[in-house]
Amino acid sequence: MLWLETPTNPLLRIVDIGSLSAMARDRGATVAVDNTFATPFLQRPLELGADLAVHSTTKYIGGHSDVIGGAVCTNDDEWNERLRFLVKSAGAVPGPMDCFLTLRGTKTLHLRMERHCANAARVADFLAGHPSVGRVYYPGLPDHPGHELAVRQMKDFGGMVSFILADESIGAANRFLSSTRVFTLAESLGGVESLVNHPATMTHGSIPRDERLAAGLHDALIRLSVGIEDVDDLLEDLDRALARA
Ligand SMILES: Cc1ncc(COP(=O)(O)O)c(C=O)c1O
Repeated sequence: MLWLETPTNPLLRIVDIGSLSAMARDRGATVAVDNTFATPFLQRPLELGADLAVHSTTKYIGGHSDVIGGAVCTNDDEWNERLRFLVKSAGAVPGPMDCFLTLRGTKTLHLRMERHCANAARVADFLAGHPSVGRVYYPGLPDHPGHELAVRQMKDFGGMVSFILADESIGAANRFLSSTRVFTLAESLGGVESLVNHPATMTHGSIPRDERLAAGLHDALIRLSVGIEDVDDLLEDLDRALARA
């Protein structure tokens, strides 16, 4: 099996689903794509040649940080049967309230994603032009190495933005992380409210440091899940936190 994730967490790298699926097919390998960051609204892995699209519905699909779940989607009958067998025999079945919250989330997915993308694009531009910021990772920025591919493969660039301060010390990152008021320091992502996260000590803290660094994940990287609030409130919050970093 070839397991892909695009955009990746937390460096927002873009992987070519179409060409990798074609290569995998030639070799008889199944292709699974973790589509959590993009959602089906922005990117459709099965149409690009993947066999399985996987989502943490905890994130954008639920959309309100109040339910945990996951989904595997396929257009392959054999995979469908195997997955259904697992669901009914292993008991991976969500409860009624979880289903209700997740289905309710799907009704506004398209509206929320439009706002997530619009706000994230403004945040990425703001950060890229700020003297206290060293590097910004957002596939919507023209200088992002995956930008051209993202234009072809995605409808828009998503709501996740990562960056490193110009002062690359952990101290500066910690001062920033403890200074935001609208962005809440928390691990999850994809909800209506904006969150800020420090991957090296939070979401990716269980990965050994040398492996993290080898993968390009800097100790001082900061990841934002840009919510759907008024964008001026978000920019003001970031500006204030940058001044204190
Ligand atoms: C890209 C991606 N896939 C999968 C998961 C796992 O999601 P869950 O916490 O719902 O198991 C996460 C969680 O952070 C994620 O970011």
